[in-house]
Amino acid sequence: MGRFLLLRKRWRTELPNKGAVFLTWDLFALLAEESTGRPYEKERMNMTRDPVCKMGVVFLMPEATAPSEGEYDASHNQRKWDRASLTYDLMTRGEDWRQGEEKRRLFARIRGKTLLVAVGTGNDLKYLPAGSDIVAIDISPRMIEQAQAKAARCAGKITLLPMDAQQLAFPDNAFDTMLTVCTFCSVPNPVQGLKELYRVLKPDGQLLMFEHVRSKIGPFALFLDFMTFLTRKFGPDLNRDTVGNMLRAGFRLRREENVYLDIVKIIEAVK
Ligand SMILES: C[S@@+](CC[C@H](N)C(=O)[O-])C[C@H]1O[C@@H](n2cnc3c(N)ncnc32)[C@H](O)[C@@H]1O
Repeated sequence: MGRFLLLRKRWRTELPNKGAVFLTWDLFALLAEESTGRPYEKERMNMTRDPVCKMGVVFLMPEATAPSEGEYDASHNQRKWDRASLTYDLMTRGEDWRQGEEKRRLFARIRGKTLLVAVGTGNDLKYLPAGSDIVAIDISPRMIEQAQAKAARCAGKITLLPMDAQQLAFPDNAFDTMLTVCTFCSVPNPVQGLKELYRVLKPDGQLLMFEHVRSKIGPFALFLDFMTFLTRKFGPDLNRDTVGNMLRAGFRLRREENVYLDIVKIIEAVK
């Protein structure tokens, strides 16, 4: 009993009261380790930083669990997206039907050597114009694995690489076009990522984005804020100011088009 009370006290300090806590597999693991007296450092890290539940229940503790921008943890981000890759195609099945034509229209504007940032499982590769010269990156090797098969079925030259958008391993001024699709809802520090895109883009290069962002319509904005508490545990943020972030990184806006309300947007910018 004393041990249990001690454990509760530790949870209180490690997991501040910022929302509902549900019993999860991780919690069982921690309890088991605690009762056997073996160290549980690793499990404790998983609890506080990576609480997506293996039983399908999620912790609602955004401030307590999301790493702040100052303490970016690339491996935490990679593991999150590796896990998401398992169900990604299932979860996004309707997207071709809803947004395929708009993506094709945007992709038709790419020119020259193009960096596709955050290729995911490669669902959008089929919209690339024939003859494209593409380097496609993603932080998740599991996503890349799935994208390989789809890339093999596409016309054009596509090179897939695991890489962090916040730390691109390319020299300055290397690409003519930057292409992003639902990328800057997911890169943990979007301004840092966009600054990297700016760096590797040629001076006369273009940035083409297909992104969902926070609405400016009050009730939708609040709903997207609320949903983000949940979705960021296993996927994207739904309330990013991607146009603002792009400007903060140094780009100049060329064109902004609403595809669905003011939430899904085509954004075109230049260096
Ligand atoms: C919402 S998914 C979009 C995937 C794909 N563009 C699509 O539309 O199907 C977000 C993607 O961003 C990737 N990602 C997240 N953080 C990243 C980072 N720092 N660098 C590169 N890719 C990242 C994830 O692995 C995931 O594949």
